Amino acid sequence: MFEDIKTLSDLAPDELKGKTVIVRVDLNCPIKDGEIEDDRRIIAHAETVKELIKRNAKIVLLSHQGRPADDKRSAEDFVCLEEHAKRLSEILEKDNIKTNVAYIEDIFGSYAREKIKNLKNKEVILLENVRFYAEENTNRPRDAQANTYLVKKLYTFANYFINDAFSVSHRSQPSVVGFTYVLPSLGGIVLIKELEALKAVRENPKRPLTFILAGAKLDDTFKMLQNKLSVIDYVLTGGIIANIFLMAKGYDLGDESTNYIKGKGGDKFIAAAHSLLEKFNDKILLPEDVAVLENGERKEISVSELPTRYQILDIGAKTIENYKEIIAKSGTIFAHATMGKIEDEKFKKGTNEIIKAVGNSSAFTVIGGGHTIAAAGKLDVERKIGHVCTGGGAAVSYIAGEKLVGVESLQGAWKIQKK
Ligand code: 3PG
Repeated sequence: MFEDIKTLSDLAPDELKGKTVIVRVDLNCPIKDGEIEDDRRIIAHAETVKELIKRNAKIVLLSHQGRPADDKRSAEDFVCLEEHAKRLSEILEKDNIKTNVAYIEDIFGSYAREKIKNLKNKEVILLENVRFYAEENTNRPRDAQANTYLVKKLYTFANYFINDAFSVSHRSQPSVVGFTYVLPSLGGIVLIKELEALKAVRENPKRPLTFILAGAKLDDTFKMLQNKLSVIDYVLTGGIIANIFLMAKGYDLGDESTNYIKGKGGDKFIAAAHSLLEKFNDKILLPEDVAVLENGERKEISVSELPTRYQILDIGAKTIENYKEIIAKSGTIFAHATMGKIEDEKFKKGTNEIIKAVGNSSAFTVIGGGHTIAAAGKLDVERKIGHVCTGGGAAVSYIAGEKLVGVESLQGAWKIQKK
């Protein structure tokens, strides 16, 4: 038992034999040109799947991949899960588990339900990207999510629900919290491992506690900063987050970057950034210089030279040095650190240098976020990191002391009798 959450090790070895278990995993991977670029999350969840196969369960996997496009963003990574099922089968096969993870091109329709009904012990199916279903993209209380079609149509075919997806547990979405209202529910191996590893950082971080925040999940990041910046010692900013703070400080970035930020909905956060700077100016570090693409080349300019007619795509060398100094004196570091446009060779420098510095620091280090982990993997830095977390936004919120709804909804949820 972990904080009133029942886990697989609390069950008798044969308790799941012949039982159908719906497992919320997070197979959301970076996708490049339609291909899975980094499969660490699939490898992580394979542990849970193996354990359930060992226990002779019938296994139904639910996951999302990407988010639907909206008027602010396109969605190259919002793809179906066929490749993920293949990849999971290959990972299991490497461990001599010959289970073909069947990809089901349906979420809760009659085809999916028929497949679930006919599952045999040890069989595994992966349902289609659950975010193809619009209601999944809502955030509402657990009882409301239990009333969605996803939950109502599927739960009667299952005996248990397992939330293994730490990385999406900050979302009150149907597949994360809805089943916990109607099925006996447990925390999966990945989820519990994350909570255990991050608990020490959350409860008793060695100081200074430094967060390196870049990335594009602005809602999550600003909400966390507004609630929890008082407990953090330093925030090193990069990417769009840094640019929003620069705008809040009064810098005119130039049309290219300003329009880009507006296009991502970033202008909504300028007022929040402004009041954070008023309160916590000493804690929030901003770039002193930035890199732009000028005539096909990387060019670094000081922020005092702004505005620029070129788009800002990375932090500059002086900023890297400033940030390295803070990293070197930190006691605990959480890095969600894609500082620039890492898809472009010329603008990987900020991210790579910061991740290397995190790897070389003597602090307890945690990295999270799909792209940050992938970059650390390519740099061979992973082995130097204290904990490589499967979560990005969820880890940011959890370490900063916020409650994760997906975790809260599991507390005591094994007691629920199937309705
Ligand atoms: C992540 O990549 O952090 C998780 O898969 C959650 O994704 P989301 O931020 O789109 O909910």
